[in-house]
Amino acid sequence: MKKFLIIFTACILTLILAACSENSTSGDSQPEPTPSSSQISVPQTPSSEPEDPEPLPAEPSSALSDEEQPAEEEETETNMLVAYFSYAENADLPDDVDASASASIQAWNGEITGNTGVVAAMIAEATGADLFSIQTVEKYPDTYDATINQGQEERNQDARPELASHLENTESYDVIFLGFPNWWGDMPMAVYSFLDEVDLSGKTIVPFVTSGGSGFSNTIRTIESLESGAAVQQGLSVSASSAAGAQDQVNEWLSGLGYAG
Ligand SMILES: Cc1cc2nc3c(=O)[nH]c(=O)nc-3n(C[C@H](O)[C@H](O)[C@H](O)COP(=O)(O)O)c2cc1C
Repeated sequence: MKKFLIIFTACILTLILAACSENSTSGDSQPEPTPSSSQISVPQTPSSEPEDPEPLPAEPSSALSDEEQPAEEEETETNMLVAYFSYAENADLPDDVDASASASIQAWNGEITGNTGVVAAMIAEATGADLFSIQTVEKYPDTYDATINQGQEERNQDARPELASHLENTESYDVIFLGFPNWWGDMPMAVYSFLDEVDLSGKTIVPFVTSGGSGFSNTIRTIESLESGAAVQQGLSVSASSAAGAQDQVNEWLSGLGYAG
């Protein structure tokens, strides 16, 4: 009988121990069924983290978009345009043209342009403005002397050379820097063609010229009469011989007008 009681007690103890062991295992492996338990809510803090990541990623992603937005604005949302005519971008020059062979041909940022094109690039770089090159369908001669004669003929005939390039989105711009070389005391007739086909009413025109010494001649008044609905600001005159080194002059002028420079 004593032996039986010992065996019986041992069985009871074994069963109790087994029951305790099962309870502690189920407590670890079943956090979900006990969400209302305040004790279990502590381990649920990590399990609630997957719900929190919604606001958490929101912070880094908005920080990223903050970084991206200014770059997008800089690239795509300028309201300023530099429209210019330059001989070298309107002539059939040989591919291996020697940029130092003519006073009106410049190699700039790896491209062939002229004096006015160089000043236009400087303005665009300083202000973030878009660039638009006024180009004719019929190219000018590849010698400067022949071009001087053709320019005189076109002026005498009050010609309007047909343009190969057309500004599609004039309405996107409020400020138009308008650049040209002085040709026979006037603008090249291709610039008249350009002004004929764009409506700059309500916009600001900021003229700039390059020349052998004549400066603007009478061209500011001409622009004012052709674009009477626009405000024409103080222009910049750059000497042909100093166009390539005009960055400081350009920046000072831009600063004086309140544009970046
Ligand atoms: C057809 C023609 C006429 C010109 N007439 C004048 C002029 O009357 N006064 C002047 O100072 N420079 C005159 N020039 C010189 C240009 O204005 C000067 O070289 C200018 O910087 C050229 O700019 P680009 O290289 O952008 O074409 C003339 C040049 C050409 C081709």
